[in-house]
Amino acid sequence: MPDMGRFGPEIPLEELQRRRQACQQQMEPGSVLILHTAPKRIMSNDVAYRFRQDSDFYYLTGLPVEEGALVLQPEKAVVYLKPGSPEKEIWEGPQPNLEESAEMSGIQDSRNLEDLDKDLEGWINGTSALYYTYGNDSPDKILETAQRLLIRGRAGTSGPSKIVHPALLLHELRLIKSDWEIQRMQETAAITAEAHTEIIRAARPGTGEFELEAILHRVFRSHNAWEAYPSIVAGGERACILHYIKNDAILKDGDMVLMDAAASRGYIHSDVTRTFPVGPHFSQAQKDLYSVVLNAQKKAVEASVVGATMDSVHDVALDILIEGLIDLGILKESKEESLEKKTYRRFYMHRTGHWIGYDVHDVGSYYLQGQPRTFVPGMVCTVEPGLYIPSDDDIPEAFRGQGIRIEDDIVITEGPPLNLTKAVPVEIEQIEELKC
Ligand code: GLY
Ligand code: MN
Ligand code: MN
Repeated sequence: MPDMGRFGPEIPLEELQRRRQACQQQMEPGSVLILHTAPKRIMSNDVAYRFRQDSDFYYLTGLPVEEGALVLQPEKAVVYLKPGSPEKEIWEGPQPNLEESAEMSGIQDSRNLEDLDKDLEGWINGTSALYYTYGNDSPDKILETAQRLLIRGRAGTSGPSKIVHPALLLHELRLIKSDWEIQRMQETAAITAEAHTEIIRAARPGTGEFELEAILHRVFRSHNAWEAYPSIVAGGERACILHYIKNDAILKDGDMVLMDAAASRGYIHSDVTRTFPVGPHFSQAQKDLYSVVLNAQKKAVEASVVGATMDSVHDVALDILIEGLIDLGILKESKEESLEKKTYRRFYMHRTGHWIGYDVHDVGSYYLQGQPRTFVPGMVCTVEPGLYIPSDDDIPEAFRGQGIRIEDDIVITEGPPLNLTKAVPVEIEQIEELKC
């Protein structure tokens, strides 16, 4: 076989051990958590998409392998895997064997996946709680086993006393990022900044949105990274289509481009949006609208501190956006009226941020006991206000069809917010200078 190099740990073992211990400490005594790898996803016929590991499985094992499971008890960890075979290696290259997987994950007890079926009853029988990702892609086998154990009570078996979604502990852990994770996020942010900077320079009247997307891919892949999510490269009015990913139009002079695109490596994501002119300059109307969004974004970033909430940050941005819309003659009523009747939603219809990490829209609850949860150090969220002005007759002409969003990734710290993506050009002068 060709030499593909040794399988080294993708995540430092201390980091993985810390995560598993934190999870185990919060599990109920006598409970078990069972997580599976992501399923193979078909693109068409027998052609599969590139494999993307399940984020929870990866977070706790660091294993990018297909077809496996993690079993965790408060005092024990076991990984089940399908070891590579000579035949599989011909098609897919070397797969880590059980010993190599143990080295990568730090979980010494690595077993053949074939044994899981027969072991499953032993893991689930009589557990105080079964942590199980119901819904999604979880195999039915686990629930079937739990039910079988329950109905065979006369034979002395019993099902789990309760089934708990791992979100309640694991996703809360994932919400608080370690220094190691934040360093990795800083790396994806730097790759993202390189791509955005090159693209702001490259955009010209006549350039295809797809050509800008091609630069994204080149820069990301040149750093062994991938796009974190389907990139949005939206020229002109297409910026008002929130999930525009066709990216197949030609850019026109006088238009702006809204680009929501970022890198991901080792399943750690960035999420960045910038809006810039196709030609060398913003028009005056574009500058006016952009300044409103930029001011809202800066103030919302400043407000992203310990004790704030997603809602309070949203309100900071919303206030500034509404005031700006009124000043520019786009909103015709008072701020109070607009807030009460929610008329601003015609121009700003999404929230201002979300958690980010191993998923772009990362896990962790937004509300605790019905109240917006307060920020604590180690949380990472996006701050991404925008304005999307429809081409309607009642809108001053210069603003029609303009869409602007500015998005950065922010770490909540003990002190001021840390903007991971601040190297991506954002000031009007900075952007225009790049285009000279
Ligand atoms: N790129 C997806 C988002 O901004 O939420
Ligand atoms: Mn986002
Ligand atoms: Mn985004």
